[in-house]
Amino acid sequence: MRSYKAKSVTSIQLPPRERRATALTEAGHNVFNLAADDVFIDLLTDSGTGAMSDDQWADVVRGDEAYAGSRSFKRFREAVADVMGFDRVVPAHQGRGAENVLFGALLDDGDVVLNNTHFDTTRAHVTNQGATAVDCPAETDLTTDSVGTFAGNFSTDRGWDAVEEHGQDAVSTVVLTITNNSAAGQPVSMANIRETAAFAAEIDATFVIDACRFAENAQFIKQRDPEYADTPLSEIAREQLRPADAITMSGKKDALANIGGFTAVRDAALFEQCKQRAILYEGFPTYGGLAGRDLEAMATGLREAVQPPYVAERIEQVATLGALLRERDIPIVTPTGGHAVYIDAAALFPDIPADQFPGQRLVCELYREGGVRTVELGSFAFPETDRPELVRLALPRRTYWREHLEHIAETAARVRDRREEYTGLKIVWEPPMEELRHFSAELEPVA
Ligand code: F0G
Repeated sequence: MRSYKAKSVTSIQLPPRERRATALTEAGHNVFNLAADDVFIDLLTDSGTGAMSDDQWADVVRGDEAYAGSRSFKRFREAVADVMGFDRVVPAHQGRGAENVLFGALLDDGDVVLNNTHFDTTRAHVTNQGATAVDCPAETDLTTDSVGTFAGNFSTDRGWDAVEEHGQDAVSTVVLTITNNSAAGQPVSMANIRETAAFAAEIDATFVIDACRFAENAQFIKQRDPEYADTPLSEIAREQLRPADAITMSGKKDALANIGGFTAVRDAALFEQCKQRAILYEGFPTYGGLAGRDLEAMATGLREAVQPPYVAERIEQVATLGALLRERDIPIVTPTGGHAVYIDAAALFPDIPADQFPGQRLVCELYREGGVRTVELGSFAFPETDRPELVRLALPRRTYWREHLEHIAETAARVRDRREEYTGLKIVWEPPMEELRHFSAELEPVA
């Protein structure tokens, strides 16, 4: 049962089938090129696309737009301290802005950064500082019938391998991404957070948590670790972050805001460095590229994100979408993670080879069949890797209802029924940077 009701709504409609087909062709078979008005149910991302509460909208009016030292910054700083346990915070326009501020201060040319799995922008900012990004995911087979409970964990064995390969002095920073977006949104256990922190301390590295989905991770710990079954969610949320020297945060996820982000640190000298970088790249350190009203919305959103009914329903809604898809024999990664369901397109379309992008074909057909926009995270988005051919269905927070989930599952079932009709796709135009190709490349069906 939802613990909230709608007060303001946005109309959506399913464009006629013909329009969807035309829109898909005009978009070059790339749903990033679609107009949002042509989309019925938008599962492209859970980032900044959720519904704000009436308290957050009231904050928008209360925002103090002073350039320096605004009342809104004070409220924001207090919320970060209460909810996340960090007193020294530097706001930024969104998560990647925070990554730029922090990693620019932390990293030198030639450094090595370890992460359970780097999210794309994190990897890009590490590389941009002249450092090398190394993924150390725990050994789990994320498949359609895996049962891992904390499949997002960091592998300290792989961490030690990296130390051996690159030398202890080079490995300056260890990052833990909770939940692990690039590993199907799977959670990280409290024990693994502590183990990773101890590993970082042993090699004298800075320990950073990418806390974008910290509330969702806390809920998984509460559900799956008997030691925390009776601990209040807000305490688990803080406890997870306690071992970290610094955090980066996208306010567009678990701060329930449409825009914003921040980095927060323990060390006074690092804080000073971050503030100086913020002035250069984001704005004065009491607004960080945001309006006062955005800081207010994040302050309230952080407190709402650790309210037990909200986050329990959030995780349950993702699990419900997973269950509806499984009932219709759609192969999904199990168990479902915190923010999204991932369909295994290679299993759904076994006749389409990886170099003809089965995932992107599935993305196109989910749109053509039901106006549902999703994102490919397989060989189209990650060229030259051996990532599985996954398609992510990310649920915006507090936005869709059960009827929408049923429409999504029915759409997927219709696509599955027609799978014999589909060929692969080929790229007909791509931008110069291959890493960013999936945002704008254009494709055509293979004849
Ligand atoms: N870290 C993680 C784990 C993320 O998932 C994201 C964004 C970022 C950092 C960057 O934050 O977008 O505010 O700059 N993920 C979005 C997604 C875009 O769709 O998964 P940002």
